[in-house]
Amino acid sequence: MSQAEDFIQKKLTERLQLDNFRVLKTVSGLVDFCSNDYLGFARSEKLKALVEAEIQQYPNYPNGSGGSRLLTGNTAFTEALEQQIADFHQAEAGLIFNSGYDANLGLFASLPQRGDTIITDELIHACIIDGVRLSYANRFIFKHNDLNDLEKKLQNAKGIIYVAVESVYSMDGDEAPLADLVTLAQKYNANLIVDEAHATGVFGSGLVQKLKLENEVFARTVTFGKALGSHGAIVLGSENLRNYLINFARSFIYTTAPAFHQLLTTKIAYQLLKSSQKEQKKLNKLIAMFKKEVQKKHQYQLIESNSAIQSILIPGNAEAKQKAAFLQKNGFDVRAILSSTVAAGMERLRICLHSYNTEAEIIRLSSAINNPLSANNHEP
Ligand SMILES: Cc1ncc(COP(=O)(O)O)c(C=O)c1O
Repeated sequence: MSQAEDFIQKKLTERLQLDNFRVLKTVSGLVDFCSNDYLGFARSEKLKALVEAEIQQYPNYPNGSGGSRLLTGNTAFTEALEQQIADFHQAEAGLIFNSGYDANLGLFASLPQRGDTIITDELIHACIIDGVRLSYANRFIFKHNDLNDLEKKLQNAKGIIYVAVESVYSMDGDEAPLADLVTLAQKYNANLIVDEAHATGVFGSGLVQKLKLENEVFARTVTFGKALGSHGAIVLGSENLRNYLINFARSFIYTTAPAFHQLLTTKIAYQLLKSSQKEQKKLNKLIAMFKKEVQKKHQYQLIESNSAIQSILIPGNAEAKQKAAFLQKNGFDVRAILSSTVAAGMERLRICLHSYNTEAEIIRLSSAINNPLSANNHEP
């Protein structure tokens, strides 16, 4: 075996021993309690039909963009869409990236410079961590949603200061205290950057707007692959920030621009979002119902959250996997989130609720979770 193959084998064996070996799966026929398709847009026949109808207006649309935005991949359609989305979110401007990962990577890798400071919540998403790692700025981490700890870090921060949070945290589903964060950031002249990936759609246009803080935050990342059911993301901020990212964000510059079909789907998804109050209301009702049902027996700790992400702590990779397997056998697509994705001891079932789930499914899921046999992986 070559040295490289040896290394690969060793790392994979380590994963197997730690019970966190990742495999790609295809799942069908299970009730979806796993995807981020919170409002059902990704599976929406209506969205598909609207896109198919609208695309007739563009008989010469290309299958692919053919190049990066700075070369052949830019169109008037893309620029107009960016402005429409920025207007929707009451931002001055926006720049579309190929994914939320690319958006955060590009923003955090390019903006903070050597001598500046980025302060991130300890539960911040991997794409922000990766972006920060690519920058030369100092990085401080504050305890999750802990304003006192953040203030200590702010007191020691140098240069231009950036604070990065998620309005709804992707693994815990809880919310950042945005209004207090704004006040604290202002006290230290820090720039607050909010990732709205899991808030957009679930909380209307996002939590920043719900709290009327759009003029108080420095930038926002909004992703299209979750409640909007499409793919891609936008960084919202000033026109200057947009121009800066066009010039310096490498994950924007050195990549092929999104295909027209994807952009059109995003455009129509935004139109649907404007009239999705019924879905949002139903989702909120199901969230409240799930919390009540699953806590009828106080068997497991449910992380406090009002969002579509409800996490039940099942410490231990093997234990969390076993519980998820039991639920899957009983017809539910529920996945375990293992360490190292979350801290050891915080392994969990991450249950995502959707407007297309039914009350009966929520009741069945909750009772399967609370089934005492589930820990042994037997049928109920
Ligand atoms: C908080 C957060 N930001 C960004 C991303 C990345 O978005 P995308 O899936 O569009 O790359 C995710 C997705 O997992 C996320 O949870």
